[in-house]
Amino acid sequence: MSRIATPLASHHSAQQPLLNTQEMVLQIFNHIDNKTTDLGAETWSEPVSNYRSQERLDAELGLIKSSFVVFCPSLALSNTGDYVARSAAGVPLIAVRAEDGTAKVFRNACRHRGVQLAQGHGCKRVLVCPYHGWAYALDGQLKNITHGSGFPEVDTKTSGLVPVPSKEINGLVYVGQEASDTTASSLDLIPQIIPDNYELVEIDEMDVDANWKLFIESALEGYHIRATHTKTFFPVQYDNLTVVEAFGGNSRVTFPYQTIESLRNKPQKGWSTNGRMTQLYHLFPNVIVSTFPNCLQVVVLEPLGLEKTRQHTYLLGRVATGTAEERKTMTESILQGQAFAKTGAIEDREVVMSAQQGLHSGANEHLTFGLFESAIGRLHAGLSRELG
Ligand code: FES
Ligand SMILES: [Fe+2]
Repeated sequence: MSRIATPLASHHSAQQPLLNTQEMVLQIFNHIDNKTTDLGAETWSEPVSNYRSQERLDAELGLIKSSFVVFCPSLALSNTGDYVARSAAGVPLIAVRAEDGTAKVFRNACRHRGVQLAQGHGCKRVLVCPYHGWAYALDGQLKNITHGSGFPEVDTKTSGLVPVPSKEINGLVYVGQEASDTTASSLDLIPQIIPDNYELVEIDEMDVDANWKLFIESALEGYHIRATHTKTFFPVQYDNLTVVEAFGGNSRVTFPYQTIESLRNKPQKGWSTNGRMTQLYHLFPNVIVSTFPNCLQVVVLEPLGLEKTRQHTYLLGRVATGTAEERKTMTESILQGQAFAKTGAIEDREVVMSAQQGLHSGANEHLTFGLFESAIGRLHAGLSRELG
């Protein structure tokens, strides 16, 4: 049986605002000095059957459809005609930057016989169907039917691409396929995560043989830093030291770097945590945004099956500025930050796939998440609350 109460970090509840820089640094210093970490109120026990039941997965996909979830960062749609096409909860969608500057999201299906208008990402001024060439403007209007005389009854005014409700807030484009507008109000709780001086570096997708929740779990605790990231994160971070906060159904887990110590002899007013911590934002249910020095990753986990997940990664990085020499140095450190983030992601992927195999072993009827892993408890508590 999973427990009903939501485990929360003892100092923080979903209603409190997120810590500001000073509060965060003081909390971290407190943990460093006392060799402690944020603790949840209780452990969480999640039935293994919840990772192995098709019925449960279908309900989770239904939840993704009925929520506003991140589709892509705005930076993936910087210019007019930029598009990102992919499936969300199994439904093919396409997001485009329209002529009027707004991001539009449509069902990615031609109104003739349903062929997808584009795949992956790129830039087009007109969306031309690859099957028979029907052409749609970036606002979705059907502009041209090839040899239109063959379709005397098609009214181009009502045969545009089918729009999907979307919102663009703080540099993230959200879709709410079957979401009510009241659901969108929860997006107001999500802080600005993407810095202004960032650009899109790359878009990547990878299929991984694991349940999507095992993925999210790997991002939400610092208990594995020493054992899993022995040569990557552990040498620059701390063993089992995280600050865990809740906002709405979401969580933020902060992993300080040892360089945070340099703030101890600086006045609090000048404290900057840039490059001195990684923060993982879990945007309920299936999105993780993780910050690294000079870059961040927006990762959307698209469940393809009980044991298969498509990981869509949008890597954003700081724009190098200044003189040629300064830009060169900055570019090097930006690339270093990206390599650091990518290596850590590979290490996580390996343990996640191994955990998936472990579900088959029959050893565990439940997975137990300890007091250090309270953000994972919140994920499962949120799913239980929504799905019963
Ligand atoms: S299916 Fe698109 S033009 Fe025929
Ligand atoms: Fe990890």
